[in-house]
Amino acid sequence: MKTLHDLHRPLGNLGIHVSPIGLGTVKLGRDQGVKYPNGFTIPDDHEAQMLLKLARDLGINLIDTAPAYGRSEERLGPLLRGQRQDWVIVSKVGEEFEAGQSSHDFSAAHTRLSVERSLKRLETDFIDLVLVHSDGNDLHVLTECEVYQTLADLKREGKIRGFGFSGKTVEGGLRALQDGDCAMVTYNLNEQGEKPVLDYAAAHGKAILIKKALASGHVCLSPGVDPVQASFELLFGHPGVTGAIVGTINPLHLAHNVATAAAVIRRQA
Ligand SMILES: NC(=O)c1ccc[n+]([C@@H]2O[C@H](COP(=O)([O-])OP(=O)(O)OC[C@H]3O[C@@H](n4cnc5c(N)ncnc54)[C@H](OP(=O)(O)O)[C@@H]3O)[C@@H](O)[C@H]2O)c1
Repeated sequence: MKTLHDLHRPLGNLGIHVSPIGLGTVKLGRDQGVKYPNGFTIPDDHEAQMLLKLARDLGINLIDTAPAYGRSEERLGPLLRGQRQDWVIVSKVGEEFEAGQSSHDFSAAHTRLSVERSLKRLETDFIDLVLVHSDGNDLHVLTECEVYQTLADLKREGKIRGFGFSGKTVEGGLRALQDGDCAMVTYNLNEQGEKPVLDYAAAHGKAILIKKALASGHVCLSPGVDPVQASFELLFGHPGVTGAIVGTINPLHLAHNVATAAAVIRRQA
């Protein structure tokens, strides 16, 4: 079997089950200020619809977006219309991207405004998981800003089902998992510095979503071994990893990634 339908796993203790591969959607909304090895054209609506259909057919139910991904959220609303129950939607707060520039706002007011705006754009009355889109000053954002407490309030209000942190440091990831449900962590063949966050999540039943699992595509440039297989052997070999968000707009890559993940996870079981 080359799909992920029977490999869904719990997203920490949220009572939500997700596929071990999620679809990253930076490339559905933004082509400026990105660090991919090759240039690309943002897919049109028909291509995006086909990509989402393929993802669903392959057993993917997890999709990751953010206000900072250009038009990603506002495109996903109409693209996912009528399919809300089929998807676990992850979005973010704290980073904005306008006119080619990123800016950050971790205040309570902006957090509320941003989540309300995501709900409207995504055409839904709840978001499954909202992560803080950190600027890298992780501990400052978590302890000196209002964003994390505001997300906890929004969870109590039922607007989001869970919350967490997409950071850049071990200290931030560990701190974020104390009160939050999930950390989004960079972990790939080139960068494993945040492994202690994975270890903590495994020991405490928290969720981990991996970003840049393929080092934003840079590992795919190495000849010889299948870099996707080597990457997934590393990731899924760690018991703390719930899933990897892989950003692709190429249907062949998507199918290859899913088949490879399915084979690796079955072999490791
Ligand atoms: N701060 C944050 O919260 C944060 C930061 C970065 C990323 N993210 C999330 O994580 C997702 C993934 O990160 P990412 O897009 O930076 O990196 P990634 O998933 O490691 O790599 C994506 C790149 O790899 C290429 N690729 C994918 N599968 C491939 C295959 N089988 N063969 C060859 N190339 C392949 C893609 O090109 P093709 O389109 O040609 O396949 C794309 O350029 C993002 O979309 C986003 O949702 C979050």
